[in-house]
Formats: sequence, C-alpha cells, structure tokens
Amino acid sequence: MALDTAASTATLDVVAVRADFPILGETVGDKPLTYLDSAASSQKPEAVIRALDDYYRRYNANVHRGIYQISERATAAYEEARHKVARFIGAADNREVIFTRGTTESINLVAYAWGRANVRQGDVIIVTEMEHHSNLVPWQIMAQERGALIEAIPVTDEGRLDLEAYDRLLARHGGRVKLVAVTHVSNTLGTVNPVREVADRARAVGALTLVDGAQSVPHGPVNVGDLGCDFLAFSGHKMLGPMGIGVLWGKRAILEAMPPFNGGGSMIKRVALKESTYADLPNKFEAGTPSTGDAIALGVATDYLTALGMEAVRAHERDLTAYALDRLRAIGGLTLYGPPTAEERTGVFSFTLDDIHPHDLASILDEDGVCVRAGHHCTQPLMDRFGLTATARASVYVYNTPEEIDRLAAALERAKAIFAF
Ligand SMILES: Cc1ncc(COP(=O)(O)O)c(C=O)c1O
Repeated sequence: MALDTAASTATLDVVAVRADFPILGETVGDKPLTYLDSAASSQKPEAVIRALDDYYRRYNANVHRGIYQISERATAAYEEARHKVARFIGAADNREVIFTRGTTESINLVAYAWGRANVRQGDVIIVTEMEHHSNLVPWQIMAQERGALIEAIPVTDEGRLDLEAYDRLLARHGGRVKLVAVTHVSNTLGTVNPVREVADRARAVGALTLVDGAQSVPHGPVNVGDLGCDFLAFSGHKMLGPMGIGVLWGKRAILEAMPPFNGGGSMIKRVALKESTYADLPNKFEAGTPSTGDAIALGVATDYLTALGMEAVRAHERDLTAYALDRLRAIGGLTLYGPPTAEERTGVFSFTLDDIHPHDLASILDEDGVCVRAGHHCTQPLMDRFGLTATARASVYVYNTPEEIDRLAAALERAKAIFAF
C-alpha cells in the first residue's frame, strides 16, 4: 500500500505503542500530556533513546578514522544504519543514502551541488504553492544566482495540486524545465500528492523530480522505486528518530555526476594544497564528523516502524483522521483546510475557529495539556493562497488515540466559550 492507494485493514496496538514512549506519561499541570504536534517533531520510543544512550556510554568514537575497536564498532553501526534506511525506503544501493542534518539540508545539498552544475540562465524550476519554505527558498537562492525562473503549480480550493495547470507549465517551458520540487504530503493541509504522476510528467520533458518526504516517509510505506523520483529528502526527528539527522536519497548515477556540496574531511580521496579529488558515494556528500549516534538511533527508529508495519501505521492514521475530521467538522465556527476525506490526506489538521487568533487558541489548548502548533507552518505562499496569515494545526502519529481527539475537541469548545464573552 502506498500513502494514496487502497485501504489496509492492518491495525496497531496503540496501548502497547504508547507504553514505549516515556514522555506520554507526563502531565501538563494536572492534565495528561496530549501531544498533537508530531508533524513538527515526533516523540521518541524507549528503543531510540536507549540506542543513543548506549552509543555514548559504550562505543562513542569518530567513524571511518580510528583503527581501534570502539571506532570500528561505531563505523559498523553507522553503516548498518545506512543499510536500514536504504531498506526502509526501498533503495537498491546503500551508497544512494546520504546522511544529512535533515530535510532542509538535504534539499540545500541538491540545490547547491546539482543546481549549480546543471541549471543555466533561462532554465525553469517548478515548485508547488504548498511547499514548505525549505523546498522553496533553496531553489529561489539558486535560481537567482543562475538566472533561472521559478514557476509554481497552484493549489485548488480543496487543497490539491492543479495538475492541469502543471501540464500547462510543462507545455509552456518544455525542455527548459530542469527540476520539479514537490512535497509528497503537505505539512499544512495533509494532502497526499500524486508524486508518481508529477515525476512521470516531469521526466517526459527531461526534468528531474525531487520529492520532499518529510511528512510522508514517517507515515506510510514509501518506496523510491514506486515514486519514480530522482531525489527524496526526509528528517529523522519526524519519524521517531533524533533531531539533527536526516536523509537525502538520490539515484546513484545522478549523485555520482554531481560535484560535492560541503568540502572538508572525510569527503576526499587525496588533498593537495591547490586541488583535491573526492571520495566515492556516499562519503563525497558527508564532509566532516557525522552525527553518528543520531544516525544509529534513526536506524533503530526504522526498525521500530518496520516492526509496527508501515501499512498498519498508515491504516491507524487514516482511521484517526476520519474520526478527527468528523469531530472537528462538528464544531461550529471551525474552518478546516485541505481535502475532505481521510483517504487523500494524512493526520494533519489545519483550522481556524471563529475569529480567534490561532496563537490564542494554541495557548488556551495548552492549559488543557493539548499541544498544537499555530502560525504559518513555514508555508507562507500557501497561507497567501487561502487569504490567511496563520492557522492552528493538530497532527497525529502512531501513539495518538481517538480519546485525544476528543480532548482536542473539548478544549476547542472551551476556547470558543471563553471568546464568546
Ligand atoms: C514538508 C516539510 N518539509 C521540510 C521540513 C523541514 O524539515 P527539517 O526542519 O527537519 O529540516 C518540514 C518540517 O516541518 C516539513 O514538514
């Protein structure tokens, strides 16, 4: 099952899952912690916390350098983590998995290293109106430097990509389109985009596709072969792993042809005073000391998710989304953004309530122990599209329950009552 295809009946044992997350036993004042902000960053299971602890207590050493046992152990664990990540996204070759600090750095790597080598004056980069700033600003910087043009696929009133408008952009610019940068899932609307179709149409005019997988890889089965893209970027901290670690996957031939991004230690073959030769993949793109413990713990996070089953993860979130859509729509004065059905979206719910400012709403919810995000969610062009400056956003993951959605709904009703006076 992919994120955007038929229903799966696999389920999660959420009580057992919750027991694996120590933070979920915390309280906010006298209220249970109701964590509904996993789209910003997920919580971490005991196994991931233990992996980090174990690394620092028992075999912390720099990788690829020491000829002594704990360094060799750290190196083996780091490379094993790369293998786990490759398997998790269906990559054919471990060398196609580059560890970065997160989605943002992965996209910057492509914009700088690939963009500078391949984008010329008059070329076109296509983005979408629903991109996170990290899949917009790097392209803008690169396009300004290269004299290239940015075009955007518009978003419909229901929060979907307007694929007819995309076709018109491709027809207008043809072979000048060098890359299409598209998010798999919108972090603001929850929309699951048809990235395979987007990539196929890009390829037909000779363009590459970069998929921002920050909100998809954590939430359902994602296979790079099925996506048909050339690059996939995602972050460890949104998929039960630590902060400070992320991934860029790229097709081997494309990565091999790209110049390096950062220069420094570990990414070279031979350095002379005036020039250097570069290491093979993946080291060419991993300059300096990597976040070894974080990468190892990300590998453990993929083990954890694989054991749950990514189809079950998707099914759980789809059921919770259907429940949340019903509960939220029943609240008078609440406007919910994004596609209407759980099948076409993930568990991300952006809304406004009457004319209560989303920041005020989030503060009132916090008094009830309910954590939601308020603001533009790093998608200001999308906010502009809907004539908004901010929304409140609740988002769910493997450990959330219908009871927590009920708590959200009750807290929203309380906020309404407060502002009614
Ligand atoms: C869709 C999307 N892309 C990119 C990012 C940036 O991720 P990071 O801050 O981990 O680099 C986020 C984070 O919220 C996101 O939701």
